[in-house]
Amino acid sequence: MNHIEKYKKYFTKEYLMGPNSFRLLDELIQRNPEDTKYKRTLDLGCGFALTSLFIAQETNAQSVVAFDLWVPASENYRRIKDSNLEDTIIPIHGDALSMPFAQEYFDAIISVDSYHYFGCKKGVFAEKILPFVKKEGYVMITIPGLKEEPKGEIKELFATWAEGDDAELFQTVDWWKALLEKECGDRCDITVKEADCFTVAWQEWFETGHEFGIRDKAFL
Ligand SMILES: C[S@@+](CC[C@H](N)C(=O)[O-])C[C@H]1O[C@@H](n2cnc3c(N)ncnc32)[C@H](O)[C@@H]1O
Repeated sequence: MNHIEKYKKYFTKEYLMGPNSFRLLDELIQRNPEDTKYKRTLDLGCGFALTSLFIAQETNAQSVVAFDLWVPASENYRRIKDSNLEDTIIPIHGDALSMPFAQEYFDAIISVDSYHYFGCKKGVFAEKILPFVKKEGYVMITIPGLKEEPKGEIKELFATWAEGDDAELFQTVDWWKALLEKECGDRCDITVKEADCFTVAWQEWFETGHEFGIRDKAFL
């Protein structure tokens, strides 16, 4: 069985919170396959901790911190125990902008469909995220974004979908690249690109029938 297929039971409106996070995460991991990178991993903005289950089972991570703001840690702990992963995954409730960890603690920080909620502002990556990863470590982020800057009629339509300030959360590849390059200076190497699984990840989100998915489909 393809390893993604094992998680198919979660491709529903009860579990997915946006474009299929298993596909997006799998693509990130496939691009960074060397095992040691994941030994101590932070799943930043883990939502229902399903991405943490995937990291724990599909990499050689020895510990995964499932860190989230909106979903209570106890709720995630129940799911983690149901999957018998309580010795590997540690659920923590908190804000990405004030994390309680030791500096240079993690081999990898992974963030799926979450970083745009807190990471669009200057200083966040350099001051709030990067300090917690080891010097030779990795930060892997996958987020929904724009293929190009909306203009004219599309811009107006976009504002009605994204509602107010939320429009600022969705940016192009070039926008993110410029922000992260400024944040990092010569401290890290950066690659930013559109996900290969873009179309299928969105399609699977629409197919859940989630009310937000239906709205996203109509808009797109
Ligand atoms: C769309 S959900 C994605 C969840 C999960 N990674 C997934 O792919 O299924 C976005 C998540 O970002 C988290 N989030 C937003 N702002 C955050 C912050 N400041 N600190 C930590 N998590 C945050 C929310 O709690 C939410 O669970």
